[in-house]
Amino acid sequence: MNSKLIVLNWKTNPISGVEATKLGVKIKDLIKNKKNVEVVMCPPAPFIPLVMPKRKNKGLAVGAQDAFFVGSGSYTGRASSEMFKSLGCEYVIVGHSEKRQDGDTDEVVAKKVESVIRSNMKAIICVGEEIRDKEGKYLNLIRHQVISAISLVKKSYLKDVIIAYEPLWAIGKDAYKADDPESFFHNAVFIKKAFATVSGSEMAVKLPVLYGGSVTADNALKFLVSGRADGLLIGRVSLLPEQVKDIIYMAEQLGNNK
Ligand code: 13P
Repeated sequence: MNSKLIVLNWKTNPISGVEATKLGVKIKDLIKNKKNVEVVMCPPAPFIPLVMPKRKNKGLAVGAQDAFFVGSGSYTGRASSEMFKSLGCEYVIVGHSEKRQDGDTDEVVAKKVESVIRSNMKAIICVGEEIRDKEGKYLNLIRHQVISAISLVKKSYLKDVIIAYEPLWAIGKDAYKADDPESFFHNAVFIKKAFATVSGSEMAVKLPVLYGGSVTADNALKFLVSGRADGLLIGRVSLLPEQVKDIIYMAEQLGNNK
């Protein structure tokens, strides 16, 4: 991947359509004249049409935070991959730890990933451990999460997979701290190796691996440079245009310096 991918996960924010529209306008302004960065806005499902650009905008895409794997039917409260595709979404986050805590098993995650890709979108699969043990046993969990999430995808479509490494202990306002870039880099290599067991090494080399968990304008550059992250998955700070602006600027500069 050439440009850095900056994914903005608004989670269940903001509280109104008016505020979501305003935030969407601000983010769209930030990516004007940017060539080396792809920003993916992921608002809550009801706000997707409010922020969707009228025309395809280079450098900006809209994504969903989750998608159900059956296209349509009697499933009260679900919104499917096909539905998000029909609204113009290009990405879907799948297997976020907050969805896994809500009951999404590895099997459900695999079905969701398959449906996203079948619907011609890219799946941003979240993986990460709850506890980082010194013996490195957490790596077994990460390997399992990666391999099981892509188990229903045909090999030729694995190019539509992006992995976001988000250790649970680094996520949210009660987070202990962000990971450090060096440890992210090692985990990203490990993720590519696990992916390679299914995809083969040629595809695994190209697999984008993002970092997520307490990303701010202060630590973003370290993850992109020292951690060699292909991009970032941002929660709380994605609601703060001033910080998003700085992060997009840094990502754009990195592309310019290639
Ligand atoms: P924070 O950036 O708020 O820690 O959230 C990370 C996350 O879960 C993004 O998906």
